[in-house]
Amino acid sequence: MVAIEDKLSQVNWDFPDSDTKENINSIHPYPAKFIPEIPRNLIRLIGLPPGTCVLDPFCGSGATLVEAQMAGFPAIGIDLNPIACLISQVKTRPPPADFLDSSISVVEQAKKSKRTAVPKISNLDHWFQRDIQEAIARLLTQVDHIKNASTKDALYLSLSSILVRVSNQESDTRYAAVHKKVDRESFYALFLNTAARLTAIKALNKPKTNEVEIACKNILEVTPMDFPHSVGLVVTSPPYPNAYEYWLYHKYRMFWLGYDPIQVKNQEIGARAHYFKKNHQTEHDFRRQMRNVLELLWAVIVKGGCICIIIGRSIIHGRTIDNASMLTEIAGEVGFTSVGNISRQISSSRKTFNLSHANIKTENILVFRK
Ligand SMILES: C[S@@+](CC[C@H](N)C(=O)[O-])C[C@H]1O[C@@H](n2cnc3c(N)ncnc32)[C@H](O)[C@@H]1O
Repeated sequence: MVAIEDKLSQVNWDFPDSDTKENINSIHPYPAKFIPEIPRNLIRLIGLPPGTCVLDPFCGSGATLVEAQMAGFPAIGIDLNPIACLISQVKTRPPPADFLDSSISVVEQAKKSKRTAVPKISNLDHWFQRDIQEAIARLLTQVDHIKNASTKDALYLSLSSILVRVSNQESDTRYAAVHKKVDRESFYALFLNTAARLTAIKALNKPKTNEVEIACKNILEVTPMDFPHSVGLVVTSPPYPNAYEYWLYHKYRMFWLGYDPIQVKNQEIGARAHYFKKNHQTEHDFRRQMRNVLELLWAVIVKGGCICIIIGRSIIHGRTIDNASMLTEIAGEVGFTSVGNISRQISSSRKTFNLSHANIKTENILVFRK
């Protein structure tokens, strides 16, 4: 049997030519998302025992789930963030047959409809022009009437993916308010373009299975009883302490779609907000949280199954935290054996990795076996 370390060494994990512009992973922005080659190659090289499934307990925008599906393995994804779960659902479900027609009809109805009350959202006038607020509210009212859940989700996703572009926010990664030339017509046109693009991309995707389950939950509250299948392989990238703020990135998307971003913030592991307050969190809190997660993974994975964790370092109040070494230590304490550790370069063109405060240039792929 070829050792995992030898199998991993067959691949250049930097994937300098990775281009996700026109594939399923490009349908919605997401910070620190996988390039698909990472889960694809881990699933291909390590595999999983028959009758088991792939798990990503921090599935984000669902790259691992899509790759498991493409390889023909059932998958389970868990994430706290409802926008992450929406993206993962739409990416992994069969494309709804009536989606394009529905997108056209909701726009027609929204244009014809009467003035619609805009939901009470904090600081809305700062981030959205009044005209655009009204157009979004009208469109949402029409989408809310759609009966088919898959069609409705695909419509919500099309709207969510363009919300920053039609807002005053400079870009997905810059939180300054600027003036942009958007009006109601261009908003509706952008929505229709996005729906058409989603349809075209979904038509190219040919998964070998549709067995994917997604749970929108705090992983620290999940128990082994919540798992419908036995797990044979985990491929995941956990949040890093004091690095990204997934809740903040999607704050207005959540407000518009009726979720509570503050509740997500409070439960989000690693969020910078927890590291910059009185009695702030420390690396010890992160260690405790990751230990809970690794104990859960130990309980649900079959003997011989592997967990792959992709993680970089972070900086907390000027101190560098070597998260990969910390996780290796915890995994050993829980009972796992380390069978692989690869360091990879993160391409400087990956905008969602540009964190001025952390300067993350490399990350580690850690593999542990039960
Ligand atoms: C590095 S991202 C995962 C990105 C994913 N690999 C992708 O390709 O999109 C980490 C994820 O952990 C999620 N997360 C943070 N705290 C969580 C918690 N308590 N329970 C579940 N998920 C959580 C975040 O919402 C985020 O989506």
